[in-house]
Amino acid sequence: MVEDLNQLRSEIITALNNVNDQASLEEVRIKYLSRSGSLPRLLEGLKDVSKEDKPLVGKLANEVKTAVTEAFEGKKEFLTRPHVDYSGFDVSLSVQRLPSGTVHPINGTIQEISRIFGAIGFSLAEGPDIETEFYNFDALNTPADHPARNEQDTFYIDGQISDEKLGRHLLRTQTSPVQIRTMQNTKPPVRIIAPGSCFRRDNPDATHALMFHQIEGLYVDENVSLADLKGTMEYFFRELLGKNTKVRFRPHFFPFTEPSFEIDFSIPGKKIRGKEWLEIAGCGLVHPHVFESVGYDPEIYTGFAFGMGVERIAMMLYGIEDIRWFSENNSQFLSQLSI
Ligand code: DAH
Repeated sequence: MVEDLNQLRSEIITALNNVNDQASLEEVRIKYLSRSGSLPRLLEGLKDVSKEDKPLVGKLANEVKTAVTEAFEGKKEFLTRPHVDYSGFDVSLSVQRLPSGTVHPINGTIQEISRIFGAIGFSLAEGPDIETEFYNFDALNTPADHPARNEQDTFYIDGQISDEKLGRHLLRTQTSPVQIRTMQNTKPPVRIIAPGSCFRRDNPDATHALMFHQIEGLYVDENVSLADLKGTMEYFFRELLGKNTKVRFRPHFFPFTEPSFEIDFSIPGKKIRGKEWLEIAGCGLVHPHVFESVGYDPEIYTGFAFGMGVERIAMMLYGIEDIRWFSENNSQFLSQLSI
């Protein structure tokens, strides 16, 4: 009986393996599994097995039944699944390449800048596009009468705000609020860059867009000096624009840094838009009021911050003349600039 069971099992499995359509599956079912099929007939013999052998033979009979039923159901399911007909398929034909997307030049530029700062230990930080007056202005030492807070300059959003101190909602005009959010959540030292979108109520033209991108930087620790800021910025612009690049710092005003500077760069022997020096970023040493607004002790900690426009850098790197091209979604334009 044992031998018969084993043999019938392999016979049925082989038969099922050779089945390719419903009709031959049905033949197998009738021949082996139906009421008068070979398997039930063999199983009838179980009643004649001696008492001692019954447990073992019975167990084997169950195993065989389960194995062939599963194989049968598996085949049935396979045959009812939709199948592709490959009969006319010529594997030797060359394939037509599907057009694939490319990294957007703005993202490519952000990735490159992040790589350069990542190499000297800066990590990435993020903040929301919809900010509050507190984070975008107050905490950054920008008082209520500052022109940037004018209705005409910033997109304010109607709606309730839970905490009076936070002021109204607005679309952030700069990535600088990420400085505040990061410091509120971490203890010094802080070493971050924060890329992201910014929004201003500018009239769109070749160099202004309602939405653009900035990269913010912040370094806070004990004894951070202007020398650290200059060294970091020189390293960065040489990595980005080439070893010959020169950088100069022009005194400027930003509410959240003191002293503040604008950074210009120049590449010897090369003029861009007829100019030798081009403004590229703002920076400075973090204002003590900013540290106070996040609970850092300005007697212990010092730091530097910087911010730059990604579009402006991408326009220079790729030789693009109009900022609006970045958001027109013209794939011919974008695919030329893939990196
Ligand atoms: N947030 C400034 C702007 O949008 C740019 C900036 C300047 C950022 C100086 C800074 C900084 O962190 O230190 O014009």
